[in-house]
Amino acid sequence: MSNKQETLRWSGDAATGKLVLIDQTLLPTVLEYIECGDVEAVWEAIKVLRVRGAPAIGIAAAYGVCLALQQHVDGTSDHFRSRLKESAEYLASSRPTAVNLFWALDRMTECAARNEDRTPVDLLDALFVEAVRIHEEDRQMCHEIGRHGAELLDDGQGVLTHCNAGGLATAEYGTALSVFFTAQDLGKNLNVYVDETRPLLQGARLTAWELTQRGINTTLICDSMAAQVMREGRVQAVVTGADRIAANGDSANKIGTYGVAVLAKAHGIPFYIAAPSSTFDLTLASGDSIPIEERDAREITHSFGRQTAPDDVAVYNPAFDVTPAELIRAIITERGRIEPVDEEHVRAMIER
Ligand code: MRU
Repeated sequence: MSNKQETLRWSGDAATGKLVLIDQTLLPTVLEYIECGDVEAVWEAIKVLRVRGAPAIGIAAAYGVCLALQQHVDGTSDHFRSRLKESAEYLASSRPTAVNLFWALDRMTECAARNEDRTPVDLLDALFVEAVRIHEEDRQMCHEIGRHGAELLDDGQGVLTHCNAGGLATAEYGTALSVFFTAQDLGKNLNVYVDETRPLLQGARLTAWELTQRGINTTLICDSMAAQVMREGRVQAVVTGADRIAANGDSANKIGTYGVAVLAKAHGIPFYIAAPSSTFDLTLASGDSIPIEERDAREITHSFGRQTAPDDVAVYNPAFDVTPAELIRAIITERGRIEPVDEEHVRAMIER
């Protein structure tokens, strides 16, 4: 996303401020900011996807911890710290797949552990500084990902993306979309094909909105059209984001990504993942152990205000799938590109 709108920002000081974020459920027709003044509001915003995308929910959760503690600075240090633990557990229950959420909450908890002698007032300040740091680091990482990814693309190429890995999903600029934005800044004109991304249409509502705002040639397609678009030779690369990457490089991302990767393989098109180091979970050997969120059936049967399936039909609604490492040509991180994608190369880049 351009710098015109901030996906999320803190308004005020650590002690009394609030989290302000774009309500992404209203896009692309309504651009509205909402204020989250307590941790419950942040949990709800993450749960219903007002704020979504792996890095953005991590940042929101870090600020959510600060909100949870604002009313508790006058009590004892023990009370403050137990409230911190409770709020981190509570925020962790909002969504299971994107590891950035847990990564950010761990950073907040570790920050408190490092500052064990501080009073509640001072500790809240330290936690707020940590949340701002998480936010700012994400911004930097996204810019670096763009730099490492744009080298892979040539002027005039067609590229395809799935879901939204843009500024709306991060502090700014995005991961997959950062690659396209940076390529554009380098004078490379791309034709970006955007999968609409059933059932919640993050591609149509959010990615198409971000790309067209920046004047990038954008063509929206239904998810089921990707094979035909590839067969017609319109696409020379696929770039998507990720929600959690296991030690062997298996990558969870929005449902449908795996299918796109299989199609890319069948058509000899390189498939890239763009993700910051905060999206890696080296505690998991492979993607088989990544928890896959299942969401409400009504997202499929009643999306966007109209019933589109019979009342009694059974529904299965996994929100993510796992693309096996062997289908991924390279993972573009802020530290450089991981290629080939296997445990040795993932660990060499991420553990250093
Ligand atoms: O359910 P969502 O909209 O949070 O899913 C988001 C995605 O799958 C993104 O591709 C991923 O989080 C990467 S965002 C840089």
